[in-house]
Amino acid sequence: MPRVVIAHITDTHIPGAGEATHADAAPTHNLHRALQHASRRSAGILITGDCAAKAGTDTEYTAFAEVLQSASVPVWLAPGNHDDPAKMQRLFNVPSRESRCDYVVELPGTRLVVLDSTRAGREDGALDVSQLKWLDAQLGTTPAIVAMHHPCIALGGKAFETIRLDDASIVGLREVIATALQGGARIHAMVSGHAHMTCFAEFAGVKVIVAPSSAYEFGLVDGVFCYQLGEPQYMEYSWGSDGSDFLARVVTVDDSLWRTMY
Ligand SMILES: [Fe+2]
Repeated sequence: MPRVVIAHITDTHIPGAGEATHADAAPTHNLHRALQHASRRSAGILITGDCAAKAGTDTEYTAFAEVLQSASVPVWLAPGNHDDPAKMQRLFNVPSRESRCDYVVELPGTRLVVLDSTRAGREDGALDVSQLKWLDAQLGTTPAIVAMHHPCIALGGKAFETIRLDDASIVGLREVIATALQGGARIHAMVSGHAHMTCFAEFAGVKVIVAPSSAYEFGLVDGVFCYQLGEPQYMEYSWGSDGSDFLARVVTVDDSLWRTMY
């Protein structure tokens, strides 16, 4: 059975021309490489937010639009806390519902459900009652991938307190997912970004995948919040065209690292 492959890139943090991010970081070069790499092996590319480096400015989005040209397959965007969702709808034709970037992409054997978990001026995320109701209506026997910027799981520690949806949203989401599963809905995974760390967990009986940032990784070193540079990474999701055998793997964007086995 032919398999469907999509890439999940996140937290690209593209600065405007002449603007700096963290020292030594090369987010634009990283994203350019990741998009080219993913385009060779994927039917489409999901980017779950923090497309812009800091505040979703025009100069950041001009630079982001430029690097997006490195993709030769469809790109599906969700906003992050450093983005401006209204601007993304206008500049990148991100579909919306009730002014939020909530939409569905129908893929062979799988439905990609994208939610806008951002709230203006807040670092953490939220989903309102209308969004939860809409999500409920999208879940059914066709397997779904539910994507948003903020993870629905706690990542532990005070430094990571805001790196998730707020408590009320988590309670509501848990109820929607649990009820949908009881009703026979299938969900491959709930996927997000925001943490700049690759994490795997479980939420209400569903796999949770937090994808690596293409720009830089976060972590605590002796209790100090740090970032780490390295080869850009992204998640690759694949499944049979009937929705069977979902697989997730981490991809490192550097084909020069490979050595022929035989
Ligand atoms: Fe980020």
